[in-house]
Amino acid sequence: MPQPFLTLNNGVQIPQLGLGTWQTPDDVAAAAVSNALKDGYRLIDTAAIYENETGVGRGLQQGLKAAALSREDVFVTTKLWNSEQGYDSALRAYDESLKLLQLDYVDLYLLHWPAPKKDLYVDSWKALVRLLEEKRVRAIGVSNFEPAHLERIIKATGVTPAVNQIELHPDFQQTELNKFHVQHNILTQSWSPLGQGALLKNEVIRAIAQKHNKTPAQVVIRWHLEQQLLVIPKSIHAPRISENFAVFDFALDAEDLAKIRTLDAPKNRIGPHPDTADF
Ligand SMILES: NC(=O)c1ccc[n+]([C@@H]2O[C@H](COP(=O)([O-])OP(=O)(O)OC[C@H]3O[C@@H](n4cnc5c(N)ncnc54)[C@H](OP(=O)(O)O)[C@@H]3O)[C@@H](O)[C@H]2O)c1
Repeated sequence: MPQPFLTLNNGVQIPQLGLGTWQTPDDVAAAAVSNALKDGYRLIDTAAIYENETGVGRGLQQGLKAAALSREDVFVTTKLWNSEQGYDSALRAYDESLKLLQLDYVDLYLLHWPAPKKDLYVDSWKALVRLLEEKRVRAIGVSNFEPAHLERIIKATGVTPAVNQIELHPDFQQTELNKFHVQHNILTQSWSPLGQGALLKNEVIRAIAQKHNKTPAQVVIRWHLEQQLLVIPKSIHAPRISENFAVFDFALDAEDLAKIRTLDAPKNRIGPHPDTADF
């Protein structure tokens, strides 16, 4: 089975599975990224606040060369940090990310959080719209936005984000927000898709993994793919990076999906609620 791609609301193709890099230190990011490209990953997710754009950029250079790929073969996402929100500062921050990544464009630029107390996300979104209009970025989106934030930026600009990257894992399924995304032609990208690793110890997940002769991580990643979600598991270990990509040769059945559905509960949110996140 080849790796799947989905189509963004502006027609751009996005790989469904990519490598996350939060908590990947700058000096190990290059190896993680180049290992991932060698395994077949074609999407890398970073952010200014991860302080690893330099290492990610180096890993892209190394990995593209080693796998005889060109820049257009990979999809790179980075994100605007909250402290840089605002029209002019967002444009400056984009240039800074490009410089660190050693790229002349990224494929997807996201507003990392709405940070509603600052009340700058509409101005920041206008800056991203300008980058898109000037063809300096292939697609723009947001992260951690709730319906009210999404409605506000769409109303202000007429431009709907291509992606909303949100916390989503089998025990925190975000059904309502995902429904809103489907209605508005926004793709959902799952962050902390493995529940930051804790979910891999879950008995239901472990039993399904045993049944398919797969690992718990592979079952969880497969679940995201089958829900038509974009998914970006993170690892800095080469064997796990490979394991997390070996998910295209099996499928979950109706019984597995029914069992996983029962894990969903609001209490399983790991991160802060976007309305009250204090950063
Ligand atoms: N937009 C946002 O606000 C936001 C917030 C959080 C995350 N994200 C993005 O989403 C990505 C993924 O989320 P995440 O990093 O929070 O968590 P995650 O991908 O759910 O889990 C990562 C954890 O699981 C471990 N792991 C990975 N593969 C494994 C395997 N096959 N077997 C056992 N353990 C495994 C990793 O350890 P090792 O690394 O030691 O292998 C790490 O501790 C981030 O890296 C980032 O790119 C975005």
